[in-house]
Amino acid sequence: MVAQSLQDPEGFWAAAAESVHWYKRWDRVLDDRNVPFYRWFTGGVVNTCHNAVDRHVDSGRADQAALIYDSPVTDTIRTLTYRELRDKTAAFAGALAALGVGKGDRVLIYMPMVPQAIVAMLGCARLGAVHSVVFGGFAANELAVRIDDARPKVIVSASCGIEVSRIISYKPLLDQAIELATHKPDNCIILQRAMEGAELTAGRDLDWKAVMDAATPHDCVPVAATDPLYILYTSGTTGEPKGIVRDNGGHIVALNWTMKNIYDVDPGDVYWAASDIGWVVGHSYIVYGPLFHGNTTILFEGKPVGTPDAGAFWRVISQHNVKAMFTAPTAFRAIKKEDPDAALIGKYDLSGFKTLFLAGERTDPDTLEWAEKHLGVPVIDHWWQTETAWSICANCMGIEPLPVKPGSAAQAAPGMDVRVVDDSNREVQRGDIGALVVKLPLPPGTLPTLWNADDRFVETYYSEFPGYYKTADAGYIDDDGYVFVMSRTDDIINVAGHRLSTGAMEEVLAAHPDVAECAVIGVADDLKGQLPLGFLVLRSGDTRAHDDIVVDVVKMVRGQIGPVAAFKTATIVNRLPKTRSGKILRGTMQAIADGREYKMPATIDDPEILDEIATALQSVGYAGG
Ligand code: COA
Ligand code: AMP
Repeated sequence: MVAQSLQDPEGFWAAAAESVHWYKRWDRVLDDRNVPFYRWFTGGVVNTCHNAVDRHVDSGRADQAALIYDSPVTDTIRTLTYRELRDKTAAFAGALAALGVGKGDRVLIYMPMVPQAIVAMLGCARLGAVHSVVFGGFAANELAVRIDDARPKVIVSASCGIEVSRIISYKPLLDQAIELATHKPDNCIILQRAMEGAELTAGRDLDWKAVMDAATPHDCVPVAATDPLYILYTSGTTGEPKGIVRDNGGHIVALNWTMKNIYDVDPGDVYWAASDIGWVVGHSYIVYGPLFHGNTTILFEGKPVGTPDAGAFWRVISQHNVKAMFTAPTAFRAIKKEDPDAALIGKYDLSGFKTLFLAGERTDPDTLEWAEKHLGVPVIDHWWQTETAWSICANCMGIEPLPVKPGSAAQAAPGMDVRVVDDSNREVQRGDIGALVVKLPLPPGTLPTLWNADDRFVETYYSEFPGYYKTADAGYIDDDGYVFVMSRTDDIINVAGHRLSTGAMEEVLAAHPDVAECAVIGVADDLKGQLPLGFLVLRSGDTRAHDDIVVDVVKMVRGQIGPVAAFKTATIVNRLPKTRSGKILRGTMQAIADGREYKMPATIDDPEILDEIATALQSVGYAGG
């Protein structure tokens, strides 16, 4: 299948597109008239919400559960059938239409893990409006940046979210973000939750329940396959986030195809992605993939530990008869830390559970082996990115399961021609490390461009390695064709499976009046994979206590980027190690922090600084080796 998908991509994906509902079939399967702006299924007319919901109602799944909302933090379990989901989605689309939202208009969604968030996403898709979901753990400033870039007509939010037992007031964050943003939405629709209400701004804010009660249901609006479905902002190398665009047609075809071929679930099976709708995993595998395929999806408002214990995942799998689950390795490390012998598994019947899929960061062999041993099912690491919406590499369980190699994300998925190249864009030998790239064209579902930033799209992904998509990951392919993804080649770090930019954090630190220069690196962490760590060089003549400055910058990152950055440690140094041309040697600092061996960079300006860095790292508890 891999060979077929690469030799005849048009035939391969046209066959997959037969399972999708089209109002009008495509004129061209792959439109390569404007490389690298490839388009799939040009001329085709579809609707994403119709494919996710209505068509299942029409074809006999009306009474099947589409969505199970399992919320240990509110002690709620609620099921929505496909019929109920259609009715709610149609009502919400009607409410948006009554506010003037139509095809191409943007709607920003800033919500916790509640079913209304999915209704809002599907409601937008129903109208051909473009949604942009922003993760709840981001601060007002980050939200404001996204409001200004997406320019939404309407924002949908909620009074609060719940983090284990702590209530997070969303509405004040939203108000502050709108205040900070230059663009102002016409209206906000606010879901009032029982735990904490929010004050509504007269003339702008509307109550979710009131708009739903007054709404006239709206039908699905046919859109071009190439029209945008959503924008999802992700970290780039600067503080300015990148708006990844997703189209309608290619996305439906690809995600629907992955459900059987990669995840090996059939329509009617229960599928669970324990992530957040604010991330791409949530978009693809809490919402769209399982619904396109007629599965039952689970929306879990809880954590792997603490809601109420490290058995939460096993309880959900057993109670709802989950067949395949998808989460980040960090969640399993959290469980393993609390319940090292997995004693809590014994309380539950997991006989219906067939496969565990992990992604978001590399699955370390320890975690993989622990999960395999205690669950007794295949544990599959697969590699992908916000940009691609689905796997670049995977062990395709519905095609032909391959032996698992710990530390590898298995082999290139159909449609993905993965290669490893050196700085001169030449392929390296098998086993040698280099830049991981994918030969063009990318398959359907992958990003057609960046929102309002065609030039940045070309510059970021296509300028360095002509003919290839640059993943910005480094790694190698072994003799059996297994891909090992080892690290990022840019300043992105991965904290608890969350993708963060150290550049963005440096921008915040640099704004502190006492900070002359700074650097942020990702250091290895047993639980979260990586944690950010700041180095500060102070302005000369500064007399403030160093501890106070550290407290300030920690507060600033939390306030401006958000708690999700998990920035808690910084250390003060006299100088930063640099090359003679002035480039900060972040990689070397990272190696010292992790206690890894490193080569003295040939271009280092002053090697003695590295001893100072090691001492500073020891002072905050890092190896400094
Ligand atoms: N709204 C508001 N705050 C949020 C939030 C949200 N939606 N999500 C996270 N936060 C906060 C957390 O409460 C935490 O705050 P704190 O600094 O006051 O403790 C901070 O952001 C960091 O969150 P996180 O890194 O997720 O750490 P955690 O200790 O809360 O949880 C795990 C650790 C491993 C349990 C959790 O990250 C997890 O379940 N991850 C795996 C699944 C996943 O979502 N992966 C991502 C993509 S697949
Ligand atoms: P995101 O866009 O948030 O999904 O983050 C994508 C990045 O996470 C990738 O570029 C990788 O650096 C990392 N990543 C995701 N999945 C894996 C995996 N299975 N193995 C290694 N790295 C991964």
